[in-house]
Amino acid sequence: KNDELPSQNEGHELAARFYHHVLMNTEQGKQAYDYLEARGVTAELMERFQLGFSPDQPEVLKGLLDKRGFDFDQMNEQGLLYRTESTGELRDRFRNRIMFPIRDLRGRTVGFGGRTLGGAEPKYLNSPDSPLFHKNELLYGFDVARKAVRRENAAVLFEGYADVIAAHKAGVDNGMASLGTSLTDRQAQIIRRNTERIIICYDGDNAGQDAAWRAGEVLEKQGLNVEAAMLPAQTDPDDYIQMYGPDRFQKEIIEMALPFMSFKMQALKKDKNLQDEGDKLRYIEEVLKEMTALSRAVERDFYLRQVADEFSLSLDALKQEQYRIFKEQG
Ligand code: GTP
Ligand code: MN
Ligand code: MN
Ligand code: MN
Ligand code: MN
Repeated sequence: KNDELPSQNEGHELAARFYHHVLMNTEQGKQAYDYLEARGVTAELMERFQLGFSPDQPEVLKGLLDKRGFDFDQMNEQGLLYRTESTGELRDRFRNRIMFPIRDLRGRTVGFGGRTLGGAEPKYLNSPDSPLFHKNELLYGFDVARKAVRRENAAVLFEGYADVIAAHKAGVDNGMASLGTSLTDRQAQIIRRNTERIIICYDGDNAGQDAAWRAGEVLEKQGLNVEAAMLPAQTDPDDYIQMYGPDRFQKEIIEMALPFMSFKMQALKKDKNLQDEGDKLRYIEEVLKEMTALSRAVERDFYLRQVADEFSLSLDALKQEQYRIFKEQG
């Protein structure tokens, strides 16, 4: 049947096995292997995630695909090959990169993320969207994490491939990552189908914390119970695990994750001086605004009391103010 053709992933399976073999068993892959090992990625993890290395040659995968009789146009469409602008020749898309196979929920490899080893831009090169690869509805590591997600009725969401792998090593084996873009409704739905609870664990920099806020809203919209972890400003989960070890990661980051509303309150405080009258009023207004989105009255009441206590305000005044904001929002 013709319409099945574009979704065939044998080319990707072959590529994943090839890249993995290069990493694990060849001289060409040694630099990448050493690099990963220095970052704490054990051989066992390289196996579990089928990590690989794409050699720094223009047509090595192409040659292999050719030998096995794959259709070049299809391999081009699926992104394993690409056409050079100058001559229109087909070449390997991924060169001199650590290869992270991206699998669907059934464990079929449908795309790759490739991290530069030589400092080439971009740092991560992903497969282009194709009939086989839909970035918007895939989550890196979900196939490996799925059992643990069900067992713990919770998932942990990271930004990066490396974070997922480090977390697995640290015993957080229900971790997964969106694929470098903002989390989509589709991805949130897929998570929701497998669990009710999600802990967002994004990088500690401003970009990461802003992205965590946006991801949290998307996840809440799909009915997930959202928590968010806070990391020190210049670290990501992988860095943190390397610096402080698995125990502290579990106890001080994952277990200390805040309910999403508290996370937002912390975030809103960050760029403000609460000794300053104007900042204080702005903070209260922003928090009240966020609270109007809470669906449960008990929750709203809980956070309202918290703000009332913190700033010695009457509940009545806060409720009036909240009502005003609510009406303004329509
Ligand atoms: P390391 O530097 O290897 O530790 O990677 P990281 O995962 O910490 O990278 P970073 O925090 O910069 O980015 C998080 C995630 O965003 C990565 O894992 C990628 O999925 C994605 N990403 C980062 N840089 C790029 C890029 O240049 N292009 C694309 N398409 N995605 C990127
Ligand atoms: Mn192997
Ligand atoms: Mn980042
Ligand atoms: Mn990072
Ligand atoms: Mn990192």
